[in-house]
Amino acid sequence: MVGCTTYSSDANLTDDDFRQVSRVIYEHCGINLHDGKKELVRARLAKRMRVTKRRSISDYLSYALRDHSGKEFSLLVDAISTNLTSFFREQKHFDFLCDEFLPSLITKKRASGDKVVRAWSAGCSSGEEPYSLAITLLSELKNAPEFQVKILATDISTTVLDRARTGIYPEKRVAPVPAELKHRYLIREKSDGEKMFRVAKILRECIYFGQLNLMQEWPIKVPLDFIFCRNVMIYFDKPTQERLVNRYYDILQPGGVLFTGHSESLTGIKHRFRYVQPTIYAKV
Ligand SMILES: C[S@@+](CC[C@H](N)C(=O)[O-])C[C@H]1O[C@@H](n2cnc3c(N)ncnc32)[C@H](O)[C@@H]1O
Repeated sequence: MVGCTTYSSDANLTDDDFRQVSRVIYEHCGINLHDGKKELVRARLAKRMRVTKRRSISDYLSYALRDHSGKEFSLLVDAISTNLTSFFREQKHFDFLCDEFLPSLITKKRASGDKVVRAWSAGCSSGEEPYSLAITLLSELKNAPEFQVKILATDISTTVLDRARTGIYPEKRVAPVPAELKHRYLIREKSDGEKMFRVAKILRECIYFGQLNLMQEWPIKVPLDFIFCRNVMIYFDKPTQERLVNRYYDILQPGGVLFTGHSESLTGIKHRFRYVQPTIYAKV
């Protein structure tokens, strides 16, 4: 029969499969797949199962875990993780940077002779967050041309990092960028269908994109001025959040700031940060 597959597929996720995938994902990247996530995991693994033409989710899992190249395991992690992001997400963080943090940072840096502003977008997804940071920093520092901006942008997922490096977004995704900044930092790309925009070279030049699993070693040698780790820790359990938040503290400059996502507070976590305002914490 034309268009019919000859094998039957079983998209059932057994409790054993769910326990196995939860354990492997937790050990690898800290994502905590509690029982409430079972249906989501089933649906996403069923998709990979179909793409890889496996007969059942169990069969798919053994295939992904056996694949020595690690490629299918990466795709499994991609399938499980959530990459939702947008330009200028949580505007109050960008307002805080412009109105409070950067003016005093620049004064301090001028006094110390340090000419670089260093930031990290940890869990940067498809790039909207680091590009929003680059736009903000470059436009705020336009009257301080002696400063260089260096943004490290990392994610565990190579799929989203490829999109981030390409830096081309449809019109509806760049809608949150204020008109004047859009005009200055986004370039209309030739396209047949939907209007597309490419980020300007000057933005790309201050961002280094790299793959990094936050649960592993970090190649960061120079203390950072601020870290955006937003809407990432929400997927981790408290002990993992606590370890991460304390590692962030250690790699910040004194006075450096950690920004978390709107639903991620440090309540219930042992840490050394000073609370500034909801989701903004400063190193003492
Ligand atoms: C919901 S997105 C947040 C994107 C952006 N920070 C924002 O707030 O718009 C979460 C990102 O965290 C990444 N992520 C999850 N676990 C990670 C880990 N262990 N190491 C690095 N990135 C991770 C995911 O791949 C995903 O792109």
